[in-house]
Amino acid sequence: MERQKTMKTILITGAGSGIGKETAKLFAAKGWNVIATMREPKNDKTFAEMDHVTVMKLDVTNKKDIETVASEVIAQGGLDVLFNNAGIGVKGCLDATPEKSIRQVFETDFMGPAEIMKAFIPYFKTKKSGVLMTTASMSGVISFPYDSVYAAAKHALIGLCESLYYELLPYGIRVKILIPGPINTNFKMQTFISSFNSAHNLKPSKNLSKILIPDFNSLPEAKEVAQVAYEAATSDSDQLEYIIGDVANTLISKYRSQGVEAFKKELANEVYEK
Ligand SMILES: NC(=O)c1ccc[n+]([C@@H]2O[C@H](COP(=O)([O-])OP(=O)(O)OC[C@H]3O[C@@H](n4cnc5c(N)ncnc54)[C@H](OP(=O)(O)O)[C@@H]3O)[C@@H](O)[C@H]2O)c1
Repeated sequence: MERQKTMKTILITGAGSGIGKETAKLFAAKGWNVIATMREPKNDKTFAEMDHVTVMKLDVTNKKDIETVASEVIAQGGLDVLFNNAGIGVKGCLDATPEKSIRQVFETDFMGPAEIMKAFIPYFKTKKSGVLMTTASMSGVISFPYDSVYAAAKHALIGLCESLYYELLPYGIRVKILIPGPINTNFKMQTFISSFNSAHNLKPSKNLSKILIPDFNSLPEAKEVAQVAYEAATSDSDQLEYIIGDVANTLISKYRSQGVEAFKKELANEVYEK
């Protein structure tokens, strides 16, 4: 689709489903040019006919894809908001998690966003404006049991963005971190349980959040995250973190107010299925 020069532009990774897709639809509805990137554009059935939405192939782990997308997008008029949203998950025992899966999570959830930001930061610095928005996770703040690899990758991502906040301040570039708790999407987590755990019937509790907050019933939808993404990207505020959903808000405020020593006592009692 033709890009409209008077309209603002957002590039979204992982726009083929879930939070990325809903965010792309919302920005398009609000009159933005949207560059909806995904690994398999041929599977797209949503954006092909939408005005001012351009679908581009971008596997965030593929350096060539990143270079091609960045150079084409900058040549065609650039960007106002870069939204690093694509991500994958893995759960389970670290000792049972294959090296390949650990590397995949770090390549997708950390190296990809870092390399994409590197590809666009010089452009934003020259322009002296722009927003770098990233979907992290509650797991990037609190390390839950059986979540070590995903938590590590999302902690790294939050660390990167927090540092960039200061680094990019003199250039008028704003940094925004979305921190959702569990959201009702088809986000898949590969699970690896060690043979030791199986032999000793040490199964992780199915829903730790539910144990910690027994009265939450329904998860926020991707649309709600998209709404927060829109507010974050368009506000003039210098707010860095956007914690999304009751679960994330309750647990993160509890974690931060109690500190890890008190928080861990409660959580440690609930790690295994009884
Ligand atoms: N759902 C939750 O409970 C939750 C909570 C906290 C944070 N998050 C974060 O929210 C973000 C979006 O997840 P979601 O819930 O919307 O689930 P989702 O529907 O599975 O979205 C993830 C997207 O990332 C894409 N992706 C995966 N690997 C990629 C790669 N190498 N290159 C480009 N795209 C890739 C997937 O595309 P394919 O279709 O090609 O696989 C998919 O479109 C993720 O960063 C996730 O960590 C989710």
